[in-house]
Amino acid sequence: MRSEHYRKYFKVPFMMGPNCLRLLDELLEEYPLQYTSDNLVLDLGCGSGITSLFIAKETGATVYANDLWVSEEENRRHFASWNMQDKIIPVCEDATNLHFDKEMFDAVISIDSYHYFAGKEEFFTQNILPYIKSGGIALVAIPGIKHEYDGRSKELLTPWLGKDAYMLQSADFWKRMIGSHKDIEDVRTWELSSFELPWQEWFGTKHEFALNDENYYESIICPYTTFVGVMVKKAEAMHTS
Ligand SMILES: C[S@@+](CC[C@H](N)C(=O)[O-])C[C@H]1O[C@@H](n2cnc3c(N)ncnc32)[C@H](O)[C@@H]1O
Repeated sequence: MRSEHYRKYFKVPFMMGPNCLRLLDELLEEYPLQYTSDNLVLDLGCGSGITSLFIAKETGATVYANDLWVSEEENRRHFASWNMQDKIIPVCEDATNLHFDKEMFDAVISIDSYHYFAGKEEFFTQNILPYIKSGGIALVAIPGIKHEYDGRSKELLTPWLGKDAYMLQSADFWKRMIGSHKDIEDVRTWELSSFELPWQEWFGTKHEFALNDENYYESIICPYTTFVGVMVKKAEAMHTS
């Protein structure tokens, strides 16, 4: 796994949840992206930007690293300290109100973030799809609930997540949320094979939130949850002569 080469970032402040690089690595194994610096990728909800680093280094693209809670200034410092200031551009915008050029990105990637803001019908087609080039792709990995517990998030996850329990939904739910659109060629949602390692590496950071999550690992996280992958392929533009 290419994420092995990024071990020095498996700590606070770079880790903000279950190891995002393991999840991203699995997505990019399944859907490899080979780009040049002329290709643009949006890393949506990038946190402290290690996923942006991975995307820039492993795909070759120039990355727009967008986050809401981590400021542009803070991420600019991270990217400069990695000598990646020309390859990763920090942006601080709300994913529900982005201001990029239409059809700007070859790919939009979002790890452990999309569930905070995108669980509404038509969110994807209205707020994300317009920014993807024709023929481009969206790849998402988020915590979710296993297929067999679909619809029971509040009941099963509230002791762990409180009022945020509703955010963890099944692969089927996310397929419904993406919906259909004339510009969508293909949608796939599935349960990732990564599970224990990203969680254990998060617990290993000893962040106070990690220690809290660890308290619920055996009783709730393991039996009921999974990581959900989402892949959306945008249709090629139809050229008429
Ligand atoms: C758990 S952190 C994960 C960060 C990073 N992707 C990772 O995996 O380490 C969730 C991230 O989602 C981002 N986020 C939540 N709501 C957002 C919104 N409306 N627009 C943009 N980003 C958002 C937060 O800023 C936060 O950094």
